[in-house]
Amino acid sequence: MQKSNWLRAGLLATLAGGALLAATPASAQGSLVMYCGVQEEWCRAMSGAFEKETGIKVAMTRKSAGEVYAQVKAEASNPRGDIWWGGTGDPHLQAAEEGLTLEYESPVNKDLHPWALSQWNAAKKRTVGIYAGALGFGFNTQQIKAKGLAEPKCWADLLNAKLKDDVQVADPNSSGTAYTLLATVVQLMGEEKGFDYLKALHKNISQYTKSGAAPAKAASLGETAVGIVFIHDAVVFAVQGDPIKPVAPCEGTGYEIGSMSIVKGARNLDNAKKFYDWALTPAAQALGAPAKSYQVPSNKNAPVPTQAPKMEEMKLINYDFVKYGSSAERVRLLTKWDKEIKALPK
Ligand code: F6P
Repeated sequence: MQKSNWLRAGLLATLAGGALLAATPASAQGSLVMYCGVQEEWCRAMSGAFEKETGIKVAMTRKSAGEVYAQVKAEASNPRGDIWWGGTGDPHLQAAEEGLTLEYESPVNKDLHPWALSQWNAAKKRTVGIYAGALGFGFNTQQIKAKGLAEPKCWADLLNAKLKDDVQVADPNSSGTAYTLLATVVQLMGEEKGFDYLKALHKNISQYTKSGAAPAKAASLGETAVGIVFIHDAVVFAVQGDPIKPVAPCEGTGYEIGSMSIVKGARNLDNAKKFYDWALTPAAQALGAPAKSYQVPSNKNAPVPTQAPKMEEMKLINYDFVKYGSSAERVRLLTKWDKEIKALPK
């Protein structure tokens, strides 16, 4: 495992205000169907602000990454969606490879961090990075104390028998977060040891949730001692004073490049392109933090939320997005997880 420096340069970028894309306000500019992959509050902030600026009516639905991918695929012969905004990059890459999304080059690309553009290049222009965030977990400080446990710091600590039925993570079929965990342990530990880890972890899992961030909320409420989530999703509850502590695991961890794609065959293609260009601007990306979303934005000129976990201080693996976002590898790993992990008795 190598420590990656990929973000360091980007995170040190100056926050000088960049030119905003001119969005023309108008009264009746048609509509846009948006599949949104982040937290509901940020989805609503984005669709509302875009509507206000352009007059384009947005019909938005929030879904987990694997679910949007499945929907876009199921609708391929009769597309309903126009823009898929947010969610982990791997399913966006899979959709790109399968020709479900459209090539597009935004004029704002020039202002993006290299990691956002590497996603675009890997997808042959069919998806682009909009934010980044590292995987980890959040634990409920009161519950850990009550169990007489030292504060967990590492992936290995989550295997402690005292955490039986007290760890939550999502199902990687529906959740991009949980797929990131699956791909991360395979890259960090090697496939055999990675699956051994997931088998051992299974004993402590109380439930595989549908949405990736749900275990953070459960941990903040004391419904579970530990929730495996993107660290920024645990930070949300820590900053509001809940008894939850976010952790970047000591062995190293993976990360996501949250992405955006235009659906191939979009009925409102011009509006999808307008949204795409707008969503990459610093002003649009600045809407995340007030909506309690603390990812690192992909535009170099967008402000990095002060609450954003410091990815440059973490031990990050060199996550292979091309491999783990490929259709064959995603299908193979998810099938293996269903067979070898989910089906296991407890
Ligand atoms: O809450 C936001 C977030 O963690 C994003 O950073 C991420 O892309 C997305 O949710 C993943 O959601 P899910 O695991 O439900 O697909």
